[in-house]
This record gives sequence, structure tokens and C-alpha cells, in this order.
Amino acid sequence: MKFFLDTANLDELKKGASWGIVDGVTTNPSLIAKEGKPIAEQIRAICDIVDGDISAEVVATEAQAMIREGRELARIHKNVVVKCPLTRDGIKATSALSKDGLRVNVTLCFSAGQALIAAKAGAYIISPFVGRLDDIGWTGMELIRSIMTIYKNYGFKTQVLAASLRSPTHVIDAGLAGAHIGTLPFKVLDMLFNHPLTDKGLEQFLKDYAKVFQETPVAG
Ligand code: E4P
Repeated sequence: MKFFLDTANLDELKKGASWGIVDGVTTNPSLIAKEGKPIAEQIRAICDIVDGDISAEVVATEAQAMIREGRELARIHKNVVVKCPLTRDGIKATSALSKDGLRVNVTLCFSAGQALIAAKAGAYIISPFVGRLDDIGWTGMELIRSIMTIYKNYGFKTQVLAASLRSPTHVIDAGLAGAHIGTLPFKVLDMLFNHPLTDKGLEQFLKDYAKVFQETPVAG
């Protein structure tokens, strides 16, 4: 399972990247706006921190404009994956950009039928939003399971990226469902480390060691 960070914040990305477990990044217009820098500048800076797929989303809503914007975004860096929304125009743009050999992440997916459309358009990644479905009383993870089954049935190569993940449990459930990628807000990635028995166990190990030895084996 690949871990992406769902943030455009450079400090969070540097911290996550230093752990050696971040395979890519997803951004969206809201996350870019939060950082206050023009998208090209912010995406370039992100590409300098994380070596992997970096999703950058178009803000145009009409197909031809999306295609132009997508091509420009892809020129920023070889790792840029163009993100298009799951609209009729977005799918038209996805088909055209994919035929040109660009990698497209189709975003704002809320049904298995939409995921089928994205795969048929040649999407490199589909992004079903788990948390936002939970928010309206649905079971977001069911969508991940359905898409995995349908894609397997037909051998679609489109990678399933579980998006809008809000907790460590979401990440684990996405893994159990077989999602290829999970995109995590920094807070959720950080929370994944935590277990009280790890802290308790380490405290005891260090106490026992210190009872017998005063110095660490490799003194700094
Ligand atoms: C995915 O690419 C989106 O940026 C993201 O996961 C949306 O998450 P949210 O519902 O927490 O905003």
C-alpha cells in the first residue's frame, strides 16, 4: 500500500518525508489556497521534497481549458499527475490527456459507476472520497471495496486511491479492502505511529537497561 500525504504544507511534507514512508502527495485547490503561493511555485517546492507522484488539480471547468491547464501542470515536473474532477468535461479531458501519455488522477469520485467511467477514460488513479461519504451517513469504505471488485473483474489498471481518510482506522480498512494508495492528512499519518503499549514497553526496556548500564552503547 502506497502512502501519500494529503497536504500542500511544506513543513508537514518535510517531516513526513524524513520518516521515509511517503510515496507521493495529493493536493487540491483548497489545500493549495491554504498555503497562499501560486500553484506552479508550490508544486515545484513539493516535488523537491517528495520523490513520487504529486497530484496537481486543474481549476478550469470546461474540457479544452482543462486540457490546456493539465498540460501546463504536467510541464512543472516529471512527477506531476494531473488531477481532473469527475464531471463530463473532466472525463473528456482525462481521455485526451491520457491519450497524450499524461497521468491523470480523477477526483471527487463518490460512486462505483463514476469509478468505472474514470477507468474507461484511461485514468491512472481514481480518488474515491471515504470521509465525505461517511459525513452524509453512508459507508465510504464500501465504495473502496466495490471499486476494487469491479476493477479486478475487468483487469483495469487504474490505481485506487482511498481519499478523504480521517483516522488510522480508515487507513487500516482501506488496506484491508486492497486500495493501492491511501492519501493521509499529516495528522492521520502521525497518529498511525501511536500505541500505548509501545510507549510503555520502551519505558520499561530503558529503565531495565539503566539499572545495569550507565552509558548508552554508542556514546555520542
Ligand atoms: C484527495 O485527493 C483530497 O484532497 C482529499 O483527500 C479530500 O479530503 P477531505 O474530505 O478531508 O477534504
